[in-house]
Amino acid sequence: FEVTWDAQAAEKEGYEHFMIKEINEQPKGVHDTLHRRLNKEEKIELDGIKLTKEDLDRINKVYIVACGTAYHAGLVGKYAIEKFAKIPVDVAVASEFRYSDPFIDENTLFIAVSQSGETLDTLAALREAKRKGARIMSVVNVVGSSVARESDDVFYTWAGPEIAVASTKAYTTQLVSMYLIALNMADTKGSISQERYTEIVNELKTMPLKIENIVKNDEDLQKLADEQFNKENAFYIGRGLDVCVASEGSLKLKEISYIHSEAIAAGELKHGTIALIEEGRLVIALATQDRLYDKMLSNIQEVRARGAYVIGVAKEGNKEIEKTADKVIYIPDTMDELTPILSVVPLQLLSYYIAVARGCDVDKPKNLAKSVTVE
Ligand code: G6P
Repeated sequence: FEVTWDAQAAEKEGYEHFMIKEINEQPKGVHDTLHRRLNKEEKIELDGIKLTKEDLDRINKVYIVACGTAYHAGLVGKYAIEKFAKIPVDVAVASEFRYSDPFIDENTLFIAVSQSGETLDTLAALREAKRKGARIMSVVNVVGSSVARESDDVFYTWAGPEIAVASTKAYTTQLVSMYLIALNMADTKGSISQERYTEIVNELKTMPLKIENIVKNDEDLQKLADEQFNKENAFYIGRGLDVCVASEGSLKLKEISYIHSEAIAAGELKHGTIALIEEGRLVIALATQDRLYDKMLSNIQEVRARGAYVIGVAKEGNKEIEKTADKVIYIPDTMDELTPILSVVPLQLLSYYIAVARGCDVDKPKNLAKSVTVE
């Protein structure tokens, strides 16, 4: 595939910031990333990836390595590959990977995830894995970038140019890529039934419209931001896949609004973080996973009882949460496995509106760079 970017795409086109423009471009990015990989029979075809059934049967370990937002996409990738393709996966931040003596041999698949394809830590980790004999795959947005050039297999996200330092559409397209790679591996290996495969592909196809639905109806999020922008601390909690999204939501908030923020597995609250919960603390509680819903409701009760102001994020129809959270943001209904593609969107918007309310330089936060080419 060739990706061509015209100069116009780099303009703000009437939006106040690149970040909000890019949040709005997610339906298109997700649509393009998905539909260019579906053939006439609605099967996933990845022409940049040449892994055969034989290769896949040999691979007994996957490392996903990345930095920042791309790392958070990798966390979801682990879940998808383990669930569908049944191969054990480790996810590591690139700056740690090289120094951790990873177990790599010719039966290892290394997957680098990178928007720019130029992040030095990611590139260095890739080279180390290659030296040790791993098969190198990458999920990259910038065509012809260093990470892409040095990989055996490349999957391009079709996000288009991302200008804002805070990554949004690169993340959602990385998520779709991880699902497509996992499903394709599973199909090739025969570790998924055709019925389930088709069901997930069909659900993926509904994502652009569902994301659009969230971005077009963001008045509640703007209102919430106007009420909460003065907070100096925030905690993002969740369980299962929601922890991955909590990490990304927390990063979005801290990097553009400079509010101190952490993400934590809700079950870990009682081992430390709950000591920091007091009157007025902002807690964003993700409760999108059906089988963990009740557990999350008790976690919300725990923090509410200590005075926290809780914004819950749940799937449409799961109204029980309204009894415990102060405010609930609903995402369109979808299968549990795919919620990250939707639940991250209100978190991006909330961070954006909070940063705007605080008068921050949203597109160019202090001390941060879009592409980090130093170690
Ligand atoms: C910087 C950017 C982040 C990005 C990270 C990794 O920190 O500000 O938005 O997630 O680098 O960049 P990459 O280009 O490798 O995805």
